[in-house]
Amino acid sequence: MNAKANVWDMDELRLITGAMVILGGATGILVVMPYLLLQNVTPPAALKPYTNEQLVGRQSYIANGCVYCHSQQPRDTKQAPDAKRGWGRPTVAGDYAYDTPHLLGTMRTGPDLMNIGARQPSKDWHLGHLYQPRAYTPGSIMPSYPYLFEVRKGQPKPGETVVNLPPALAKPDEVVVAKPEALALVSYLLSLDRTYPALAGEKR
Ligand code: HEC
Repeated sequence: MNAKANVWDMDELRLITGAMVILGGATGILVVMPYLLLQNVTPPAALKPYTNEQLVGRQSYIANGCVYCHSQQPRDTKQAPDAKRGWGRPTVAGDYAYDTPHLLGTMRTGPDLMNIGARQPSKDWHLGHLYQPRAYTPGSIMPSYPYLFEVRKGQPKPGETVVNLPPALAKPDEVVVAKPEALALVSYLLSLDRTYPALAGEKR
């Protein structure tokens, strides 16, 4: 019974101390260090803050789960051929200066969208693609978002934005009107443009 206490015989104090050391180490590496490293990052001059409408669109991007299929982090050529795919240069910390929370994403079921505003600047294309992706990219597995639009018989009301659908999808007696949420989402997508030179606003 009087065997010498083994190092593996834990008591509560050791358990709690061990847990605190691990928690403290993890907080240091994952919270404190990144904070210290990134606290001097300033927004590049060419990067504009989001407008209110774009911020509403950003919330819609989050709410509709776009981040589950689209990343916002073109990678270095050493890691992936993202530049060849036309997704843009690898991003730097300053590119995300106005992004809270960031929407880096982990899945790439669809293309990276960090520079979609530069790659596809057409508002009509984006509205139509959100209404029915398969009308623009045959066989696309992206979901359609019909609830961002209103389909009506007759004429649009003054001030409404009518979606110009491809002829195959357009019906002569119907108008597809973009709701404000769709317009805000597209406004956000068009703002995604980090094609200015990298490190322009980074302190080095
Ligand atoms: C289930 C996965 C999935 C979800 C969720 C999804 N997408 Fe996509 N997206 C794709 C795929 C796959 C493509 C490529 C085929 C195409 O163009 O439709 C794509 C293409 C795109 C493109 C064109 C990209 C290019 O380089 O041409 C845009 C813009 C886009 N998606 C925006 C969105 C937005 C905004 C949302 C949320 C409202 C969203 N996607 C949700 C899978 C998805």
